[in-house]
Amino acid sequence: MKRYGLYIDGAYVEAEGGRTFETANPYDGKAWALIAHATAGDVDRAVAAAKAARRGEWGTMTASARGKLMVRLAELIEENAASLAETEVRDNGKLLAEMSAQTRYLAEWYRYYGGLADKIEGTVIPTDKKSIFNFTRLEPLGVVAMITPWNSPLLLLAWKLAPALAAGNTAVIKPSEFTSASTLEFMDLFGKAGFPKGVVNTVTGFGADVGAALVAHKDIAKIAFTGSDLSGQKIYEAAARDLKHVSLELGGKSPNIVFEDADIEAAVMGAISGIFAASGQTCIAGSRLLLQRSIHDRFMKRLVEVAGAARIGDPMSPDTNVGPVTTPPQYRKVLDYIEVARNEGATCVLGGKPYTGPGANGTQFVEPTIFTDVRNDMRIAQEEVFGPVLAVIPFEDEEEAVQIANDVDFGLAAGVWTSDIGRSIRMAERLEVGTVWVNTYRAVSYTSPFGGYKRSGIGRESGIDAVREYLQLKSVWIATETSTSNPFVIR
Ligand code: NAI
Ligand code: MG
Repeated sequence: MKRYGLYIDGAYVEAEGGRTFETANPYDGKAWALIAHATAGDVDRAVAAAKAARRGEWGTMTASARGKLMVRLAELIEENAASLAETEVRDNGKLLAEMSAQTRYLAEWYRYYGGLADKIEGTVIPTDKKSIFNFTRLEPLGVVAMITPWNSPLLLLAWKLAPALAAGNTAVIKPSEFTSASTLEFMDLFGKAGFPKGVVNTVTGFGADVGAALVAHKDIAKIAFTGSDLSGQKIYEAAARDLKHVSLELGGKSPNIVFEDADIEAAVMGAISGIFAASGQTCIAGSRLLLQRSIHDRFMKRLVEVAGAARIGDPMSPDTNVGPVTTPPQYRKVLDYIEVARNEGATCVLGGKPYTGPGANGTQFVEPTIFTDVRNDMRIAQEEVFGPVLAVIPFEDEEEAVQIANDVDFGLAAGVWTSDIGRSIRMAERLEVGTVWVNTYRAVSYTSPFGGYKRSGIGRESGIDAVREYLQLKSVWIATETSTSNPFVIR
């Protein structure tokens, strides 16, 4: 079996004591590689390397030089996109078609923030004090811990690492225990690009041991996390003990809202892309479909027709539309929620069970599943399933659509399908979410801020302002004349 070491201070190393754990291929359920299982001592070494790099060569390099390294890294990502994608598909079961596009695209985050590195400027402040020159500096936070989930490991890492590096921080990364391989392979490109040792480090293991040790480490300045709301909450609580900075991206229960004046065919495709792409395992999944009553039956007929024709099978094959669920616990969780929805009285109009037909190699396939007659207070409408399960909720008018859409704890994203421009703007204003898509769904870019309202998270990733999440502001006061005025009163 292939064996992956930790990446600390510019080199791949075994974990202390040589501990490892297995990682499986979701398509056949079989273990395909051994991943080093870090100890608390390994976490210490990684954080120490990142701290030394921050104070050493990386910390004294010009911002332009830092940016150039990032642009070089972007080129190397493009050159290695195909092999990184293949590793990811083997480890997390996402479609090769999607993963290939994603690994190429993630280069843009490093290029964009590489360009930004030497444009991070303080200001000169015209103060009310005489004989004072006051300016600000934007400085890096220090060592940032980055904890990522299994659904899109390298992309979700880029959203954190690119702005953090542009700002001059160093990093210790803890990928998901289910999908550590791609991040470990990616580390090699930093050496090739010419980054100083210790700027990026990766420690692998489980959340409760390696993740928790990293979060609790006294030399970590900030934790950037993507994952479940419960893990995010634990991390936030732990970070509070040392007053560490955090940014959290925690999933959602996003509404895809279709009005009677929408382009129905486009909205059907949008609904499918929202929930069945990536087998529903995306934080932005449009897992609640809100349908205006007047088009409900017509829409459902077409939706079931298209979703029912999805080809399920090998994620490496270019013809596959829906691949396996990534992890065994996630597979059980999805099936449990299907049971919950049935018990709550929702009507299953498509799927609703494990898929065992042609192309189902292993045991982690769930049929694309659609429930109608869902009420928004049911668990299937309130809790994140993170699988190919759609809850359809009818509404009467715009007012009711807004009320249902906002009546959840989450607030990550929403889709609005309408041909009325005024309505699209009214909806965009009234939806309590970090991203609104009108007549499209699941679009993201390095240029545009992304993040959650309410229980979907804290902070923003991507876009020009995201670099601020990795900076702290210092105010410098310089007297232009010496003063001997009364020292016992404030200046
Ligand atoms: P998780 O949130 O437990 O894991 C995400 C990452 O956090 C992993 O690297 C894990 O090792 C780490 N982690 C977990 N607990 C930690 C702790 N106490 N301290 C430090 N690090 C910790 O997600 P999991 O268990 O893989 O998936 C569970 C659910 O989370 C899914 O069913 C889905 O609902 C949601 N999820 C949301 C994602 C999103 O993109 N927002 C991504 C993946 C999962
Ligand atoms: Mg795996």
